[in-house]
Amino acid sequence: MTITVEFRKSGRTVDWSGNGSLLEFAESNGLQPAFSCREGVCGTCKTALFGGAVRYFETPLDEPEPGNVLLCCSRPAESVVLDL
Ligand code: FES
Repeated sequence: MTITVEFRKSGRTVDWSGNGSLLEFAESNGLQPAFSCREGVCGTCKTALFGGAVRYFETPLDEPEPGNVLLCCSRPAESVVLDL
């Protein structure tokens, strides 16, 4: 099953091929999401998740509210739609 990542603001959908974080994946696709700590502590990379679900490979200090995701410590669990 192919997992896709839709960057809705950018109008692009790409197949997930990363083995790092969604933040790294967005960067490798030319986007520049805001970040600071890159380890689930500061919340700077919080981004709205319009669809799909992610899995955290590092437990965030504060789980973001439903409908949001911390890009730096998560990967898609299924196809996702991000506000990027
Ligand atoms: S960059 Fe700090 S929580 Fe993601």
